[in-house]
Amino acid sequence: MKPRILVTRATFAEVIERLRERFDVEDNQKDDAPWRGEELRRRLEDKDGLLSTGSDRVDAAVLDGAPRLKAVCNVAVGYNNIDLAACSERGILATNTPEVLDDTTADTAWALLMAAARRVTEAERWLRAGNWKEGWIYDRLLGQDVHHATLGIIGMGRIGQAMARRAKGFSMRVLYHNRRRAPKAVEKKLDAKYASMEKLLKESDFVSLNLPYSPEVHHLIGARELALMKPTAVIVNAARGGIIDDAALVQALKERRIAAAGLDVFEGEPKFNPGFLEVDNAALIPHIGSATRATRMKMNLVAVNNLTAALSGRRPPNLLNPEAWPKRRR
Ligand code: DGY
Repeated sequence: MKPRILVTRATFAEVIERLRERFDVEDNQKDDAPWRGEELRRRLEDKDGLLSTGSDRVDAAVLDGAPRLKAVCNVAVGYNNIDLAACSERGILATNTPEVLDDTTADTAWALLMAAARRVTEAERWLRAGNWKEGWIYDRLLGQDVHHATLGIIGMGRIGQAMARRAKGFSMRVLYHNRRRAPKAVEKKLDAKYASMEKLLKESDFVSLNLPYSPEVHHLIGARELALMKPTAVIVNAARGGIIDDAALVQALKERRIAAAGLDVFEGEPKFNPGFLEVDNAALIPHIGSATRATRMKMNLVAVNNLTAALSGRRPPNLLNPEAWPKRRR
């Protein structure tokens, strides 16, 4: 008998075909409506493996309904949707999909940085609304220069480093803040200088958040931090909702205490603070940081590889909870 797996959200047909070669698959290809709480728990009752996305909450209550479950394999680099401690306690392996989306996500963050700086989404709305009646005007939609400005990167992991590489092409000065200082060789290669949060917020023209979400960084950027930023500064978040206090950001944007924001992620998404829709100085996109066909396919294949390894008794390459390995379910 093939191991039974649940694929929570619709994905590329080729991925489902590949999974069917090895597993007995229950998928969500038709409706793609997220399965939450009791429904997810019920569907997992007889499953050996789970291919989840960042939008599926996999908590202790869900895991308690899944006595056979051996692996939770997220199709995402972020894994704040999975209760890792609860997985480890139960001997369930958890995995993510690092690396394959670094450059794609940095491209998106860079697009937001440029769009917010040069008011691209605002200008397009203005044009589409039929406002372009007079020709060229010297001060129409003036924005911020990106080239030769200072970029402050909070979170100097792989995606933060990809941002620093992009900044080089724009002749920018790069500051960064990270839990641990990067090795000297990395600082040198990226021409990036370590700074305290306070210095970074005060001196940066652009602040980019590139760190994973955890309760410790909840509202890392709130009213106090926004008040430290320059009135001409732009903040970019393509990391996770909840790192910024969105109510405080809306207020700062309304009062023009900072110039603009570029946001791919929001607190409580897909719902988000309606105040963002009332301000012109925010470029807003719906959590599409890794959304290119090539990258989403790679993420899926990495997750399939993790699941295949876990359900054939091999250690999955992207194991997030190594403490679960010795007591894994077999
Ligand atoms: C990730 O990989 O974490 C992206 O945010 C997609 O969920």
